[in-house]
Amino acid sequence: MAETILEMKGISKTFPGVKALDNVNLKVEQGEIHALIGENGAGKSTLMKVLSGVHPFGTYEGDIIFEETECQFKDINESEKLGIVIIHQELALIPELSIAENIFLGNEQAKNGIINWKKTIIETRQLLEKVGLKLDPEEKIKNIGVGQQQLVEIAKALSKKVKLLILDEPTSALNEEDSENLLNLLLEFKKQGMTSILISHKLKELLKVSDSITVLRDGQTIETYSVKGDKLTEATIIKDMVGRELANLFPERNYNIQDRVVFEVKNWSVHHPLDTEKQILHDIQIHVKQGEIVGIAGLMGAGRTELAMSIFGKSYGKKITGQLFKDGEEVTFKNVNDAVKNGVAYVSENRKEYGLILIDSVKNNLTLANLQEVAKNNILDTSKEVVEAESLKTKINIKAPTIHQRTINLSGGNQQKVVLGKWMFTNPDVLILDEPTRGIDVGAKFEIYKLINELAEQGKSIIMISSELPELLGMCDRIYALSEGRITANLDKSEANQETLMTYMTQSWGS
Ligand SMILES: Nc1ncnc2c1ncn2[C@@H]1O[C@H](COP(=O)(O)OP(=O)(O)OP(=O)(O)O)[C@@H](O)[C@H]1O
Ligand SMILES: [Mg+2]
Repeated sequence: MAETILEMKGISKTFPGVKALDNVNLKVEQGEIHALIGENGAGKSTLMKVLSGVHPFGTYEGDIIFEETECQFKDINESEKLGIVIIHQELALIPELSIAENIFLGNEQAKNGIINWKKTIIETRQLLEKVGLKLDPEEKIKNIGVGQQQLVEIAKALSKKVKLLILDEPTSALNEEDSENLLNLLLEFKKQGMTSILISHKLKELLKVSDSITVLRDGQTIETYSVKGDKLTEATIIKDMVGRELANLFPERNYNIQDRVVFEVKNWSVHHPLDTEKQILHDIQIHVKQGEIVGIAGLMGAGRTELAMSIFGKSYGKKITGQLFKDGEEVTFKNVNDAVKNGVAYVSENRKEYGLILIDSVKNNLTLANLQEVAKNNILDTSKEVVEAESLKTKINIKAPTIHQRTINLSGGNQQKVVLGKWMFTNPDVLILDEPTRGIDVGAKFEIYKLINELAEQGKSIIMISSELPELLGMCDRIYALSEGRITANLDKSEANQETLMTYMTQSWGS
């Protein structure tokens, strides 16, 4: 019989207005991959923060027993010393520093106070190799994509002596290929005897790699399953998670697509902001009609986000050429304001950096992008602001005790919903959604899909970027494939499937 490496017993944790954990029990066996699953706000991240000492001893109730010893961690350093290493849901790398500097931050390879750079670089290179990243250790974090940053986080964890690795949604930012690499990596670590706890909303991958699955709902343990022994299916987990069955993953839609092209991008070319010789996007042509949902499929690094951001008021790139047309007339967006004024909104994939002011309230974040709507003669009408924010909170089902809660205190998935609400409030004609359901649980995904369908039915035009091909296939009327900065296909719903999309997404152009 396997040994138990970790036991968390009767864990309860309360925040003002929220009982995040209510007598949770978790038992993890030595050498297994143990998945933790549950709706947004179920308490997964909080439980792991209790385990790792982010929420220190004394701020929760219950016991933590690791390797047969009772633990009372005062901070994260104490848990790390025992080999418990957590990679948080929100990446914590410093953009201005290099990969190597980030990996060894606080753990510098130094002697007599002098950092041994040669050693740092060599070890970084070895760690990057372990996670399958071919990057220069001296590259700055801000110049690499979110997916690559996730792998750097894992490399950083490996630089410490890990016995129990906790990954809070490590693949939510990754496309299928990269996710698979990461999960294979976990299986490799498992062979070497490492234990891991994996939090994810992607049920398929959890069923594939994990040995046991614990389901949390509303801060309580619902059940722990052995994946093989219990012949576990997605349907069982979903039912446990949301407390009811979910027959369809995609809601019904009333089509209202008009022939009128609302937004068009022509001959759009963009260069790298720092290396202006490097062309990121080449002669992009895309359009979207009124009431249409158009998808953009592409691998990490294909230029999807760069395309969206360069269109959205030149938020990305240099030497941008090409034309934009709104309702048949040429428009120029010098900045984000111009884009918003012309009825274009962009829901960013990176909510921390571009989407939210985390220290501010849910209400202020929701109304921020359209303050005119809640102002009279340029003076903020606070009661109107409250009404509008309340209504959005209900509509998109944001889980927070009140609209005055700071967004930093919301669960990851609920922060994502605030970003979506913020841009919906600008009442745009064209809504560009970049990974709109990243980190969102299956039940809430359905709600967001329903909202997107409703917006399309009202005559909005939607451009949807997603790494999840089933999501694009389930939602879009038309899908563009993007590969190495070029549009390689424009497929009608009827001609698109995973295989054809994948072929166009991997089409190479040589050099
Ligand atoms: N620092 C905090 N202050 C106040 N409330 C908090 C804090 N951290 C978490 N909460 C609340 O505790 C509950 C559980 O949040 P938690 O982040 O653990 O959810 P989760 O299961 O990780 O969800 P997700 O899948 O969205 O990441 C939520 O209601 C959240 O708003
Ligand atoms: Mg979480």
